[in-house]
Amino acid sequence: MVASVLLLVLLLSGSLEFPSLSSPLPLSPTLSLSNPNTISTAVDSIGTRTSHPFRELLPAFSKWDSQVGCGKFGQKFESWKVNSSAIQGTGIQDGDTCQKEGPRRHVSVLVKGWTWIPDNLEGIYSCGCGLSCAWSKSPVAIDRPDALLFEGATPPRTRRTGDPLRVYLDLEASRKPTGFEDIFIGYHASDDVQVTYAGKSFHIGRNYRISPVKRDDILVYWSSSRCLPQRNDLARRFLSLVPHHSFGKCLNNVGGLDQSLVFYPDCAMSKSPIWWDHLHCAMSHYKFVLAIENTFTDSYVTEKLFYALEAGSVPIYFGAPNVWDFVPPNSIIDGSKFGSLEELASYVKKVGEDPVAYAEFHAWRRCGILGNYWRVREMSLDTLPCRLCQLVATRGGRNARDL
Ligand SMILES: *[C@@H]1O[C@H](CO)[C@@H](O)[C@H](O)[C@H]1NC(C)=O
Repeated sequence: MVASVLLLVLLLSGSLEFPSLSSPLPLSPTLSLSNPNTISTAVDSIGTRTSHPFRELLPAFSKWDSQVGCGKFGQKFESWKVNSSAIQGTGIQDGDTCQKEGPRRHVSVLVKGWTWIPDNLEGIYSCGCGLSCAWSKSPVAIDRPDALLFEGATPPRTRRTGDPLRVYLDLEASRKPTGFEDIFIGYHASDDVQVTYAGKSFHIGRNYRISPVKRDDILVYWSSSRCLPQRNDLARRFLSLVPHHSFGKCLNNVGGLDQSLVFYPDCAMSKSPIWWDHLHCAMSHYKFVLAIENTFTDSYVTEKLFYALEAGSVPIYFGAPNVWDFVPPNSIIDGSKFGSLEELASYVKKVGEDPVAYAEFHAWRRCGILGNYWRVREMSLDTLPCRLCQLVATRGGRNARDL
């Protein structure tokens, strides 16, 4: 209650100011608000084990296996409550809704104009239930589109029957339909089609090598080059409390840009590496990655968080109040659940010196996926072509009535 009132104040004031609570919240920062936490595991006894600087992940995992283990972890989160309405379902893979001998259907989507939508989505998809889907930016590949996808540009104001359906995509925090689209794609479950940031399409052509060894001199990785004043201020105040590397333009403390190329030559993918090749591999050398959204709003959980998770690091997260509906249990440290940045910093340091507790933050990927995470991945940009084609087919494609 206190937390939600504070968050409300935070959201209304449009500020990233850290709430200054008079008393710490009685919640474990790794759990969702609704979790009945009865089984205790390593994260519940942080600070009770003797601190033990460590670098190697695999021995830490073995220790956790013998002291806690997937069985107990699974039991603890068996009744973990997430809001399943925060993520859409596909319906495509659902065998019950799909007739085996259904008629074959084909839907084509032409991606219009200049857009960041990645080229690697181009192609033909088999979507199940007899539906095939063609997706391209090329008016030759898609000469008779069933739908036009706009992003960054407003769709035509009118549509006559027989014209392609108008689709508009906006994944920014401030997402808003233009009023001229037939189908709106955003990051929220209430949009016609939801797209989460938990896919591969947001970071193509990068080195996915994950370091098995973590630094023990520097705890936290940060990289931001859009220096928004409020995000910067929060980062500055937190990072001043922990040993960190900041690689981006904002608060850079590694001697300039592109230093990850110098620090981590093992991450090079080619003879002329560029910093974003290194991003994933570079952050994997750190136990923690600071991830602060540009806006704190419901369901706006971006690649900043998923990227760190995939790099085998533990995100320290400031962003969507319902972030636990998007991530596996015990996978992140939710910064907003601490009474102060000092408390957060001290917690992070303790976890960083406790191989068993730290290993528990990786249990989600070793023991099997719990919570909404399975569907969060399923609803990513990677699967957008089939999901959009499915909806276009349902609406009747070009032959849909004027809306
Ligand atoms: C569950 O998520 C949906 C979609 O984000 C939201 O509208 C609803 O208020 C949430 N319910 C609860 C109980 O938080």
